[in-house]
Amino acid sequence: MKIAILLGSVRNNREGNRVGKFAKKITEERGWEVEIVDPIEYELPMLEQVYRQMKNPEEKFVKIHNILQDADGFIMVTAEYNHSIPPALKNLIDHFYFEYFYKPTAIISYSSSSFGGVRAAEQLKLICSELRTIPIPISLPISKAHESLNDDGTSVNGDYERRSKKFLDEFQWYLEALKNQREKRIPSN
Ligand SMILES: Cc1cc2nc3c(=O)[nH]c(=O)nc-3n(C[C@H](O)[C@H](O)[C@H](O)COP(=O)(O)O)c2cc1C
Repeated sequence: MKIAILLGSVRNNREGNRVGKFAKKITEERGWEVEIVDPIEYELPMLEQVYRQMKNPEEKFVKIHNILQDADGFIMVTAEYNHSIPPALKNLIDHFYFEYFYKPTAIISYSSSSFGGVRAAEQLKLICSELRTIPIPISLPISKAHESLNDDGTSVNGDYERRSKKFLDEFQWYLEALKNQREKRIPSN
């Protein structure tokens, strides 16, 4: 399976980096091919035009398009900013559209509080639905990300690696189910 991991914080000293590393590690351990899409790395501007309307897209947009297009599913890594998702994540998501269709999205949320970004994760599920990417019912909230994860993306005491098993099992089921169905047919847009 090919998985694209979307990061959504561009804040100075963001915790999102270690959550991204954690997401990469647990998915690669399943033998999946993983690409991280980091809005900082791509210096993604605020949306001026959606990708599908760009006449001569810059290379960075083409690169992201190709990663999303080739992916069988997505992991969206969201922090919680004022009970919602960070603007950089929404901005990244909004640049693209057809790339998400009929593929599953698994959400890893995090915050500095014990709630682990669950309110942002719930909002993100609604956004996913509009983009025809199926948000899987289970999500993986990481409480107090600054304390729970080490800099290299491993979790303290291996707690979150253990918790991720059920999450990834369910994601895998949706990855396979939707891939099989996409190969048969996709609804007309
Ligand atoms: C603008 C802003 C709003 C925040 N709002 C919330 C919030 O609603 N709930 C929460 O649990 N944490 C909130 N936090 C704390 C973040 O969860 C914490 O700073 C987290 O590390 C942010 O992710 P990042 O470091 O990758 O940007 C907020 C942080 C910022 C910067």
